[in-house]
Amino acid sequence: MLVTDNISHLRTARWADPRATWGLVPTMGFLHEGHLALVRAAKTANDYVAVSIYVNPTQFAPTEDLSTYPRDLERDLALLRAAGVDLVFTPSNEMMYPAGFQTRVEVTEITRYLEGVSRPTHFAGVTLVVAKLFNIIQPTRAYFGQKDAQQVAVLRRMVQDLNFNLELVVCPIVREPDGLAMSSRNKYLAGAERQAALVLRRALDAAEAAVASGQTDAEAIRAEMRGLIAAEPLAKLDYVSIADAQTLVEVEEIAGERLVSLAVFIGRTRLIDNVIIHR
Ligand code: PAF
Repeated sequence: MLVTDNISHLRTARWADPRATWGLVPTMGFLHEGHLALVRAAKTANDYVAVSIYVNPTQFAPTEDLSTYPRDLERDLALLRAAGVDLVFTPSNEMMYPAGFQTRVEVTEITRYLEGVSRPTHFAGVTLVVAKLFNIIQPTRAYFGQKDAQQVAVLRRMVQDLNFNLELVVCPIVREPDGLAMSSRNKYLAGAERQAALVLRRALDAAEAAVASGQTDAEAIRAEMRGLIAAEPLAKLDYVSIADAQTLVEVEEIAGERLVSLAVFIGRTRLIDNVIIHR
């Protein structure tokens, strides 16, 4: 496994066999089973797999957890080696954003909703760094998790709008046995907070059950979800959304493909989760 922060070394490895296919799994490290599921999906469909590990500063607001974001490079590399990854790219901030850097990559419309309301600068940082990673590595396929549903929608748009020559592959959410969606930020959950965090899954289950029992009024379902969050003393709701799965615009009726999503603070930890429902 080649581990490098050097773009020309990376490109030499990437293009050693120009006909080979490469899958890229972009990450911010502190890997969990969700990341490893993306690696496994990439391995089954490509000749080689690259993983990037980079805690991208441009996607964090000044008030967010950039400085405390969990990091453990040695453990990550051991996991990736065991998973049979071929190349790990570990760039520095100076390489990604050298002095004089002044370019933006922004998707302007679907970034306004959901996460974009609470984190208005977040997606501009994500699209900027992912566009750079795509240009540096030039993968055949790139793998992302459905847990970040809006990130996936934004990146799809970017790939289409900027004609990136790759396939974006979305893999299902990986959950802990009790239903909590896997996230590097779960590490922040202390004591009773870990149990309280299950309220996100309970709220999504309630939405699915309501739809299964014939409820088509989206606002009634949002109200039920808000009620469940309010009943959990350690939880503070950021948003509950039922939106068109393509445009991310809030809907009144459950019809077609809907993205049910929510963001909730458990103590100081902000968690997100979602489910797609079809009717
Ligand atoms: O999903 C993430 O971990 C990050 O947003 C990504 C895609 C690696 C970009 O920094």
